[in-house]
Amino acid sequence: MLRVSDLRIKTKNKEIVKGISFTVKDGEIVGIVGESGSGKTLTALSVADLLPEGVSAQGSIELDNDKNMLEMSETELRSIKGDKIGMIFQEPMTSLNPTMRIGRQVIEPLVIHKKTDKKLMKYMAVSMLEAVGLEDAEEICNKYPHELSGGMRQRVMIAMAMINEPSLLIADEPTTALDVVVQKQIIDLIKKINEDNNTSVIFITHNLKLVRQFCDKVLVMKDGMIVEQGTPERIFNEPKEQYTRELINAIPVRTRRKVQKQEKLENEKVVAVNE
Ligand SMILES: Nc1ncnc2c1ncn2[C@@H]1O[C@H](COP(=O)(O)OP(=O)(O)OP(=O)(O)O)[C@@H](O)[C@H]1O
Ligand SMILES: [Mg+2]
Repeated sequence: MLRVSDLRIKTKNKEIVKGISFTVKDGEIVGIVGESGSGKTLTALSVADLLPEGVSAQGSIELDNDKNMLEMSETELRSIKGDKIGMIFQEPMTSLNPTMRIGRQVIEPLVIHKKTDKKLMKYMAVSMLEAVGLEDAEEICNKYPHELSGGMRQRVMIAMAMINEPSLLIADEPTTALDVVVQKQIIDLIKKINEDNNTSVIFITHNLKLVRQFCDKVLVMKDGMIVEQGTPERIFNEPKEQYTRELINAIPVRTRRKVQKQEKLENEKVVAVNE
């Protein structure tokens, strides 16, 4: 559903992403890992057409076999952005509008992309907030971002990103700022969205354990290049690149063993079901 070819991202005097290519299939969860500054966020932002001022992209980004997004007009892009692509960020506080009530914000993408009846939109805001696991959704609609906890704000962001039922959800370290329990809830929510709607997901994280449990494919980035890509099992069990080995070795041994054990149990379950 997404094909990125030879993507280059430049600032005025520096090439930051140096010709990367990858695909995301329908319903696939693709993880991007790699050291800080390797270009993960800029890659995600260029797919969502949200690159900051002074940063430009070259190459090609095709969504649903449509034409290259990097060559589209503003009008063409507007119909894709927010409609086909939803994006959630690490710190919802910076992406939510502090002066706008939650209900209004959640339906904002609808206001921009479709003209829908006001009552219906209110109804959609409430049901979307319920769908992301927020209780008392009606009440939450009337609150401001600062009145919610970090985990609740992240759920609001996900509701906002999902309200147009995008076919691709991009999550840039969506759980880094949250405690472990809430992290797990948010991951489960993204997984559920992926399964229920067959939404493809690009998932950027520093948490390799998460990648292994959650992603169908992993891209390992270093210095603006993809140094390795493949299934998490392959990457973890037979990393081809020294850099990937270093990343894996940075995970505590006990965590590695635990994940391996879990994988073994899951494989056995699959065998049992097949038998
Ligand atoms: N607006 C900008 N203007 C100029 N350079 C930028 C801008 N945003 C990012 N960069 C530079 O581009 C490089 C890649 O940044 P990016 O945010 O994509 O890294 P990242 O892989 O997401 O890192 P992290 O894991 O820390 O989030 C960095 O060296 C950064 O300094
Ligand atoms: Mg980043």
